[in-house]
Amino acid sequence: MTMSEKILEIKNLQKKFGKFEALKNITFDIKKGEVFGFIGPNGAGKSTTIRILLGILHANGGSAKIFGKDVWQSAVSIHKRLAYVPGDVYLWPNLTGGEIIDLFLKLNQQRHSARTDELIKQFDLDPTKKVRTYSKGNRQKVALIAAFSTAADFYIFDEPTSGLDPLMEEIFQKNVMHLKNEGKSILLSSHILSEVEKMCDRIGIIRQGKIIETGSLDDMRHLTRTVFVLETQKPLESLSQLEGVYNFKPVLDKEGVNKATFTVDSENINSVLEKLVAYKIISIQSTPPTLEDLFMRYYNQKEGSR
Ligand SMILES: Nc1ncnc2c1ncn2[C@@H]1O[C@H](COP(=O)(O)OP(=O)(O)O)[C@@H](O)[C@H]1O
Ligand SMILES: [Mg+2]
Repeated sequence: MTMSEKILEIKNLQKKFGKFEALKNITFDIKKGEVFGFIGPNGAGKSTTIRILLGILHANGGSAKIFGKDVWQSAVSIHKRLAYVPGDVYLWPNLTGGEIIDLFLKLNQQRHSARTDELIKQFDLDPTKKVRTYSKGNRQKVALIAAFSTAADFYIFDEPTSGLDPLMEEIFQKNVMHLKNEGKSILLSSHILSEVEKMCDRIGIIRQGKIIETGSLDDMRHLTRTVFVLETQKPLESLSQLEGVYNFKPVLDKEGVNKATFTVDSENINSVLEKLVAYKIISIQSTPPTLEDLFMRYYNQKEGSR
């Protein structure tokens, strides 16, 4: 396999539920070794897309291929090299967590290994308890342990950490990075932006059944503004008039503002910084845009804030 090999290829994918168009037009791909973050608000179409990839739902239009094969026609052979963790994990209540882990592994032609035991320890799961006593978080752990101890080429996680505490979230991230280091490919659907920001090579933002942007985080960062906190010797109100400066707010609201926060469009950073010197800088702090900022920008697009 070469690095540019496409593990997943989705083109103009469409799905209707009755008259409702859940997926209007979804196009993106994932290359071998990539962690792809699939992000969007609730109801955007993330799980619908994933259910089509798994062969659970049949698309109304477009195409989706995993390992170069059609997801509907070749579901059985694709599943031999696939591991999947849903957001809502339903399990047989009368089996223990350990029994279900082993059952999942068997169904995937895998074995309970030393790695399975290691994962049970890492995720701090008591595998001897009946699943009926498990919290949502514990049920997710069962599915995650089974998936992480499965030797697959492509891992699909659909909001897998919504019931996990921060410590377990960290264990999840550690294991995703482990897979990534082994050259595995991963589709991670999430609305936890810090999770996506830390792990993903590329991101696709979905909203109302459409992909509105794909690219690396760096590709997208140019779209948003850097936040500055600036303190100067000279009053700096006039700064707010400069091209590319937005959201100018004095830190202390008194006459002759010497400290303020503001944001700057990436393409204007250079010209704005050149002019700051004249105000006699005491301190300056800048924060690059986060994924959250990017996401909010798309989310608020209708308000025409830009
Ligand atoms: N089986 C279904 N029947 C009708 N509508 C559905 C069905 N599954 C999902 N939807 C609708 O499709 C849209 C996308 O849902 P979903 O893919 O679950 O979103 P996400 O996973 O991004 O939160 C939502 O409006 C949801 O209500
Ligand atoms: Mg979902």
